[in-house]
Amino acid sequence: AASVPFSQPMPIPPVLRPARSTLDTDFYELRMRYADVEIVPGVRSRVRTYGGVLPGPTVRAHRGRKVVVRQHNDLDLDAAVHLHGGHVAPEHDGHPMDVIAPGANREYHYDNDQRAASLWYHDHAHHSESENVYNGLHGSYLISDPLEAALGLPGGQYDVPLQIRDARVEADGKLTYTRAEQRPHMLVNGKERPYFRVEARRYRLRLFNVSIDRPMLLRLSDGAEFTQIATDGGLLAEPVRLSEILMSAGERAEVVIDFGRYRAGSSVALRNAMALPGENQDFLRFDVVPAAGRDTSAVPPKLAELEPLPPATAERSFVLDMNKEQGTFLINGLLYDPHRVDVRTELGATEVWSVTNPNGHGEHPNFLGTHNFHTHLTHFRVLDRNGAPPAPYEQGWKDTVEIGPGETVRIAMSWGPHPGRYVYHCHRLPHSANAQMGTIEIVG
Ligand code: C2O
Repeated sequence: AASVPFSQPMPIPPVLRPARSTLDTDFYELRMRYADVEIVPGVRSRVRTYGGVLPGPTVRAHRGRKVVVRQHNDLDLDAAVHLHGGHVAPEHDGHPMDVIAPGANREYHYDNDQRAASLWYHDHAHHSESENVYNGLHGSYLISDPLEAALGLPGGQYDVPLQIRDARVEADGKLTYTRAEQRPHMLVNGKERPYFRVEARRYRLRLFNVSIDRPMLLRLSDGAEFTQIATDGGLLAEPVRLSEILMSAGERAEVVIDFGRYRAGSSVALRNAMALPGENQDFLRFDVVPAAGRDTSAVPPKLAELEPLPPATAERSFVLDMNKEQGTFLINGLLYDPHRVDVRTELGATEVWSVTNPNGHGEHPNFLGTHNFHTHLTHFRVLDRNGAPPAPYEQGWKDTVEIGPGETVRIAMSWGPHPGRYVYHCHRLPHSANAQMGTIEIVG
């Protein structure tokens, strides 16, 4: 569907209200259901939702305060809800084989015993996760903590999640699940190419790449610099100035943009410099209006303490490959088998994982040659990329990392805080749906 660009306002997803609260826990109810939403003005699109909205409502959690979400599956297909980036007990992790049948419901328990960070929740039912997320099952889950709150970063209405993704929206509104080069539409918070009215002041924007497999290279249309303050797992040690940011599917980055340097009445767009030929690069237009009051927010030169990892006791290698004839995706030559444990380690063990992507762009011009890598349960640090130190913006806690064509990326992590079986996988969801996934068992 063609729409007039920047003709609709960018919505901010509603914050979910607890159904009840006790001294230490907030209880939520969410229903997964079909809904008709307007992605492109004037046409209705049938999508799969959490709570009837696209994206799902935002959960705001606080470190040390528990959250329980009862998920009701009112869809006609299996679902599993995974809290991406959550340090969650295995029975609440939304394991690909641990699904909620249609008509059933279950509770997911989240301890939120981790640093402030921008997490997201999404479907993980094996083989269906890619189509389910594509069709709308994704939402933000934001954890705050006192250390972060004390920094004075832009807050309240100036702290905004942007769930960014691509889609193919047909003229009649139908959302078609197809390959990346057939998905020209860019959505922010469920709207195709919206505008966002911003005051001439600083904003904290939480960027989520919730595309099923599309990497994006984000820039401002005037090439101006902005400040990155956080990665997947929370705040960086120090803010990083940059003018572009590469995000592969599943990754998050938090940035502070100071719109105070733009004249009221002017506009600047957020663009994907990796848009394919024929696609629009600019997908979100910021329209600057006068600030309502004095901007008292700050980006302090020191953001957080990144505690060092203990020395590693094991090194492992993983090769992400594909079988072109069969259309399957492999890790170390194997397809995912839920009954097989690929890696066994001990609770608290620190390991170095070396992850290689032997597939090249030349061979597979349509993104297929590239992979990324995501671990459940814990966050990792990027040690090096092809032997070179990671870019400053990759030097925080991560749970998903781009592994470009021909690259080897070494990451280090400590396995905990829970024992049990968890998956790791390529977060190009068509790849994980086609078995590019493995199991780690953490023995307590
Ligand atoms: Cu965001 Cu195993 O997933």
